[in-house]
Amino acid sequence: MPSAAITCWWAVGVLYQIYPRSFQDADGDGIGDLAGIIARLPYLVDLGVDAIWLSPIFPSPMADFGYDIADYVGIDPLFGTMDDFDALVAAAHGNGLKVILDLVPNHTSDRHPWFVESRASRDNPKRDWYLWRDPAPDGGPPNNWLSEFGGSGWQYDETTRQYYYHAFLAQQPDLNWRNPKVREAIYQVMRFWLGRGVDGFRVDVIWHLIKDELFRDNPPNPDFKPEMPPHAALHPVYSADRPETLQVVAEMRRVIDEFDARVLIGEIYLPIERLVAYYGEGLAGAQLPFNFALLSTPWHARTLAQLIDRYEAALPQGAWPNWVLGNHDRPRIASRVGLAQSRVAAMLLLTLRGTPTMYYGDEIGMQQVAIAPEQVRDPFEKNVPGIGVGRDGCRTPMQWDASAHGGFSAAQPWLPLAEHYAQENVANLSADAQSILNLYRALISLRKRLPQLAHGDYAPLAADGDLLLYRRHDATGSVLIALNLGAQPVSVVSDTIGLDGEILLSTAMDRGGERVGSELSLRGHEGVIVGPAPEEVV
Ligand code: NOJ
Ligand code: MG
Repeated sequence: MPSAAITCWWAVGVLYQIYPRSFQDADGDGIGDLAGIIARLPYLVDLGVDAIWLSPIFPSPMADFGYDIADYVGIDPLFGTMDDFDALVAAAHGNGLKVILDLVPNHTSDRHPWFVESRASRDNPKRDWYLWRDPAPDGGPPNNWLSEFGGSGWQYDETTRQYYYHAFLAQQPDLNWRNPKVREAIYQVMRFWLGRGVDGFRVDVIWHLIKDELFRDNPPNPDFKPEMPPHAALHPVYSADRPETLQVVAEMRRVIDEFDARVLIGEIYLPIERLVAYYGEGLAGAQLPFNFALLSTPWHARTLAQLIDRYEAALPQGAWPNWVLGNHDRPRIASRVGLAQSRVAAMLLLTLRGTPTMYYGDEIGMQQVAIAPEQVRDPFEKNVPGIGVGRDGCRTPMQWDASAHGGFSAAQPWLPLAEHYAQENVANLSADAQSILNLYRALISLRKRLPQLAHGDYAPLAADGDLLLYRRHDATGSVLIALNLGAQPVSVVSDTIGLDGEILLSTAMDRGGERVGSELSLRGHEGVIVGPAPEEVV
């Protein structure tokens, strides 16, 4: 019996992350906007994705490009108006696309009226909405907690002579999630957007929400190396992933469930065993705690096979898995594994069991763009320069065509375009039957056509050298996936594995219909999906 989860849109569909500043600029200011996204909906429909998740579009001083929110229930004029937003939701829904918003409940902007009040005096009614502490006896910060973006996590505020805590920039003070009024205020924000037709939220740093009540020092990380970002010097055991956080996640889920068919996705960077706790007791937590393991796992057949097994084994009963290949915080997949191998990565993402999340531009093989020092916009890179933490390189404008500014904008874009955008763009790749873009389209459409890919079970077969082999199966049949993670050809010969069938798709897009018997050969950086001929599939 299929569980309820696997019939939901967020379980069988493909999610697509849009970084709104960089997708499409309609008003000619060099920054993407909502009208731009509306104009590009046909592209997304054609690609075959089911839902778009928008990084923050709310009024913000943009110290962290929208992750510093000054008004949770408005639209920043850079992106458009509330009417534009309503038009986007209507147009997306009209095209069968769901819309997921970014909810950033851990912190606000320091310009948010709540914080302006909170910092005004120690007895302000909003004082306890944030985390204020007295200085240590020596006048320094209250404890050793570090900001993810460099330096202490504590900022001294002259007016009231206390420190406030900020897990990210000093312009992003953390809210006090132990305060029921804060919870209710954010739940009201959720209801506001859900009532406007939004289909769910991706919740920013959901595992950070609750901090240790006693504000104990974090212990040192014995594995810290100087080339790591400075906050990695400590294990954040007291400043994140506190047990009480799961109660908050369950409360958020209850708000989600006040509405029909909505989804709660959590941004969580934790080891698998902790990550899966965010599904919640009795699956009453997040439906999709984001699984980012592919972003950092070494790209070898064996490590990937072990990762998949570990994740599958750790999932609570009935929990639906998910996989993410890229996002606006991590280097582009095409740069990390190479362009040729990124086709194999695409096949992996779209044939694993669980909801796939794509990052805009990965479907055209967008690379990490080199950012000159004077072009740096990311505050993380500005605070911690030179060790490669900068995120601008994965946030560059979408490459639509060969025209000036890549069809992204009529003006100079806010970040540089990739050097080879005139060749590597949607228009060119659409016209090339074997391009990575057409591979993505074919993979998504095959996933929709074959129930085994959409929600069949996963069965590992082999991880040998560069070869990764697995099967997806259900009562109606099975599909075999063979991926070559290396540059050299590989082949597998077996009468027992059950290789035989027909190649439904090769990453090279040139072997469809080829019969497979007891031997399957793959070229370097090739992956194939083998199954019964399409007409045999029920
Ligand atoms: C995670 C977001 O993905 C990242 O872009 C942001 O800087 C931090 N959270 C702070 O909100
Ligand atoms: Mg614009």
